[in-house]
Amino acid sequence: MKEKVVLAYSGGVDTSVAVKWLQETYHMDVIAFSIDVGNEPDFPIIREKALKLGAIQAVVVDARETFIKDYCFPALKANALYEGQYPLATALGRPLMAKLIVDVAKKEGAAAIAHGCTAKGNDQVRFDVSTMALAPDLKIIAPAREWSFNREQTIAYAIKNKIPLPVTAKSPYSIDQNLWGRAIECGVMEDPWAEPPNDAFIWAVAAEKAPNKAEYVDITFEKGIPVALNGVGFDAIALVEKANELAGKHGVGRIDHVEDRTIGIKSREVYEAPGAMMLIRAHEALEAMCLSKEQIRFKAIVSAEWSTLVYTGQWFTSYREDLSAFVDSTQRYVSGVVRVKLFKGSCSVVGRKSPYSLYNFGLATYDKGDTFDKNAAVGFIKLWGLPARTEAQAHAAADKKPAARKKKTS
Ligand code: ARG
Repeated sequence: MKEKVVLAYSGGVDTSVAVKWLQETYHMDVIAFSIDVGNEPDFPIIREKALKLGAIQAVVVDARETFIKDYCFPALKANALYEGQYPLATALGRPLMAKLIVDVAKKEGAAAIAHGCTAKGNDQVRFDVSTMALAPDLKIIAPAREWSFNREQTIAYAIKNKIPLPVTAKSPYSIDQNLWGRAIECGVMEDPWAEPPNDAFIWAVAAEKAPNKAEYVDITFEKGIPVALNGVGFDAIALVEKANELAGKHGVGRIDHVEDRTIGIKSREVYEAPGAMMLIRAHEALEAMCLSKEQIRFKAIVSAEWSTLVYTGQWFTSYREDLSAFVDSTQRYVSGVVRVKLFKGSCSVVGRKSPYSLYNFGLATYDKGDTFDKNAAVGFIKLWGLPARTEAQAHAAADKKPAARKKKTS
């Protein structure tokens, strides 16, 4: 009996070629496994295609809900942005895919898992490291990293093996998409000076084409999780879809960044993540009102650390879990409503309210109703400034006595 391999199958040219290539090169039975995280391919067609190419099984799993609840919302609670810019859409999807694939591999008694990642990207790191953590002894095969085909040779192999190529006009871009965002690579964007063309984007309109009238959205959070938009409750998937639609319509969430890949390459990355960016901005604003300044300061450090860990493929580590535990703990009082204003590419927070608000009108107001004890400020500043005053006095005294420090050498 042949050994089995579970292949992460997208239906694209590379993974389709991989179905054949794995059979020819490794003489293994291929189980094609496709995962829906909001990437919107035509799954029935993809299944069919995998079976035609000789896969012994073609499985499709709808993982959208767990993707949002267990991967994207934890990222939102952390306000996760890699290098302050990238909401990590692809980076959040890969560990989930690896987990689901490893589960199938275990269930089917497969000898290996396989994925279509190349040697230059982050996704190979995420797939491989996640698999190493979840099934330390499982073999990992990355056909596109092993075969020595360039693009033309891959196509030639596809034609020779009667692998159907996409019928649609070939997009000049390489796209990776899920509910949390869309990454657009290649083509003219490999020149970091070239402005990303409008046809690269499908969710966020150009700011200049956005409506002339601003739109307000009230976002309700419960313990750091968004649960309603404009007072209407949504389940997780629908909420993120609606957030993408609302913010995208106003051109919010286009991102253009020169990013540091895990394997040491700087690359120009273009994203659109209207929903994620709107939700993160709103969530941060609610935290500003509900968390102490110390929590906010430390959480920003945790956020940067968390984002880097996830970007570099270390989702399934104790360290990531420890950081997530801190983040979760901070969210106990992050409930309330944030009002954002969407207009011509911008998303500004214009209002926030919470039962756990630490904003105290009596303390803050400059008008009547002021409850702040001004005398306390005087005493506080006397002590707060004491080290600065002491230092200044000590330095001034020392500077007046140069002889004490300078030894005459001649
Ligand atoms: N630079 C992003 C990341 O590493 C996007 C990658 C897109 N992936 C892809 N296979 N095209 O997360």
